[in-house]
Amino acid sequence: MESMESGRKLLEAGPWGEWLKQDTDQRKKLPPPPLQKPYPENAKLIDLVAPKDLTVGQIPLIEAINRRRSHRRYTAEALTLEELSFLLWAAQGVRGIAEKGAATRRTVPSGGSRHPFEVYLVVNRVTGLEPGLYRYLPLDHKLCFLWADSELNKKTAQACLKQAFVGKGAVVFIWTALPYRAEWRYTILAHKMIAMDAGHSCQNLYLASGSISAGICAIGAYNQEELDTLLKVDGTEEFAIYAGVVGKIKTKV
Ligand SMILES: Cc1cc2nc3c(=O)[nH]c(=O)nc-3n(C[C@H](O)[C@H](O)[C@H](O)COP(=O)(O)O)c2cc1C
Repeated sequence: MESMESGRKLLEAGPWGEWLKQDTDQRKKLPPPPLQKPYPENAKLIDLVAPKDLTVGQIPLIEAINRRRSHRRYTAEALTLEELSFLLWAAQGVRGIAEKGAATRRTVPSGGSRHPFEVYLVVNRVTGLEPGLYRYLPLDHKLCFLWADSELNKKTAQACLKQAFVGKGAVVFIWTALPYRAEWRYTILAHKMIAMDAGHSCQNLYLASGSISAGICAIGAYNQEELDTLLKVDGTEEFAIYAGVVGKIKTKV
C-alpha cells in the first residue's frame, strides 16, 4: 500500500503563492486547449432536444433535493431522448462562450471555468438510440456515436469492479478528465480542482435524474486501465475519473 501522504497532500490548498508568480502556459500565451474534444468529420451525430424546448424536469428544486439518493435497481423502461437531453444538459450543458473563446460557461461550476471533462455514454435503453458508446458534444448539444459492442454493458460492469447493477442501467455516464485544460491555467493546482469539478457535475445529474423518475448511482470504484481501454482513451491526456449509472425507477415523480 502506498503512503497516504500524496493523497492527503492533494486535498490541501496547494502552492497558490508560487502559482501567482509562475510562468503558466496561459501566461506564456500558449493557445488554450480545445473546449471540446474534436470528433471525426464523418462521425454520426445525433440531435438532442434543445434546452429551450425541454418539457421534462419540472419538479420544485426543494423536492429534487429532498428526494436525492443513490439507486441501484432500475426498471426495464427506456429513457426518452428528451430525458437524456435534459440529463446531459444538466451535467455539462453549455450556456455560453467566454474569455474570447478560451472558456465555456456551463450549467455546473468549474474552477476557472476550465471544464476539464468529456462525457461518454454507454447507452443500453434510450428510445431511438442504438445501444453503444456515445460522446456528448456540449458545444453542439449533440451526441456523437462512437461504436456498438454487444458486450459493452458487461465490460462496463466488469471495469467497475464487477458491480453488477452497472450493467443494468439504461445509460452509464462516464466522465473523463483532460487535465491539460485545467493545467494550462493552474499547473499543479489543477488536479484538486478537477476532482471537485467532477462532483458538481455528478450532483446535477443526481438532481436532474430525480426529477424525471430516474435513479442514479455514482461510481468511484473502477479499474482505471479497464475503463480507459473500454473508452479507447490514452490514459494520460485523457482518462476516466467518475461514472454514474442511470435508469428508470418504480417511484414516479
Ligand atoms: C465519489 C463517490 C463514489 C461512489 N462510488 C460508488 C460505487 O462505486 N458504487 C456504489 O454502489 N456506490 C457508490 N457511491 C454511492 C455512495 O455509496 C452513496 O452516495 C452513499 O452510500 C450515500 O447514499 P445516498 O447517495 O443514497 O445518500 C459513490 C458516491 C460518491 C459520492
